[in-house]
Amino acid sequence: MKNFQQFIGSFSFDQRLGEVDIEGSIAHVEMLIKTKIIPSADGKKIIAGLKSILKDLAKGWKLPMEEDIHFAIEKELIRRIGPVGGKMHTARSRNDQVATDLRLYVRNEILTIFDMLNAFQKVLIDKAEKNIDVIMPGYTHLQPAQPIIASHHLLAYAWMIQRDKERIIDCLKRTNVMPLGSAALAGTSFKIDRNYTAKLLEFFRPCENSLDGVSDRDFCAEYIFDLSLISVHLSKLAEEIITWSSVEFNFIHIDDMFTSGSSIMPQKRNPDTAEVIRGKAGRVFGDLTAMLTIMKGLPIAYNRDLQEDKPPVFDAGDTVKLCLEVITDIMASLTFKKDRTYKSTEKGFLQATEIADYLARKNIPFRTAHGIVQKIVHYCIDNNKTLDKLSIEEYKKFSPEIENDLYKYIDVKNIVNAKTSYGGTSKKSVLQQIKKLRSNF
Ligand code: ARG
Repeated sequence: MKNFQQFIGSFSFDQRLGEVDIEGSIAHVEMLIKTKIIPSADGKKIIAGLKSILKDLAKGWKLPMEEDIHFAIEKELIRRIGPVGGKMHTARSRNDQVATDLRLYVRNEILTIFDMLNAFQKVLIDKAEKNIDVIMPGYTHLQPAQPIIASHHLLAYAWMIQRDKERIIDCLKRTNVMPLGSAALAGTSFKIDRNYTAKLLEFFRPCENSLDGVSDRDFCAEYIFDLSLISVHLSKLAEEIITWSSVEFNFIHIDDMFTSGSSIMPQKRNPDTAEVIRGKAGRVFGDLTAMLTIMKGLPIAYNRDLQEDKPPVFDAGDTVKLCLEVITDIMASLTFKKDRTYKSTEKGFLQATEIADYLARKNIPFRTAHGIVQKIVHYCIDNNKTLDKLSIEEYKKFSPEIENDLYKYIDVKNIVNAKTSYGGTSKKSVLQQIKKLRSNF
């Protein structure tokens, strides 16, 4: 390695902190003016210089390379306004500066991701409302279990996203705390006003301990964990999109724009977008592992290892934002093949539990009823019949308690709508969920 300066530098990846770095510096300088630590005229020059850099950055202009973004901005400031620019760094260290920048950055990302989660959740709720009459098999162990409304399935995801929203907003409580003023590690003998700077930057409060202030990266790990859990949820939905759009299931249609063909097999329509979403989860978990490993065992206060916090923080946010954008579009375009999903409820003896419940209501112990219905199902398998097609005479051979009214109980639509327990799959309950979810916005 010839260039160690480049090796220890972070400019290649921390440039995107430029805007928040300037935001933090402007507030710091305003505080230095207010507390009379630097003359007001100097402070104003510095702020004007910083604003001119900000303007150029917004136009796409690139800062000349330095060890890191903090040095790059300071050097550029001095280039533009002269040595007085050097007063900006009074009562501050890069250690509290970078920790502050990263918190400002993560705070913005949290708010953006929250908005994206909201948009995605709205699409799920709209789709659920639209498909309230679509009946499909519900699965456990990926084996047909009981019939459900497709909307109920979609809303299960809407509730996951609800938790994701709550979790990521909660993360703000610990992220939106200001390390600035911790200086290198010990605080400063300048009479700074940390509450004032915190107020200007809209932090909830300054941090309580300067050593903790410069070393704390818990918020990064927490943020990436929250993103990891979002990725878990998106990967589950992606998996369902993949299975449901397979020839075997054939429950849904997704727009061609989200599929791709094969270079060899002309008939193929692969759900690549959903597969990539499923795969990206692994990448986000990798970011979480990287973040936790960087933090592990570090002695207190700033260590240069902490510089490596940025790539995983940036990457996890970028990845999740991309995935949210794509999954929202996929879900908006998705249509259910109502006849197909309904037809599938004929397979897999989905009414079996209903017959056991029917017998249990006739005072037969549920465990005995369960055994009777197992025998009925075996009979159906042996004779290639379905439960709705068995005659009453055949039923009576298994239990004399079974009467003609059984057929009403094992009608698939009736089964679904009888699930009126709180949070169940009946239309009434699903409509209640939609109402409750909508009241969140
Ligand atoms: N580039 C560094 C980082 O990202 C800034 C802080 C450097 N502090 C120091 N004492 N060397 O963490």
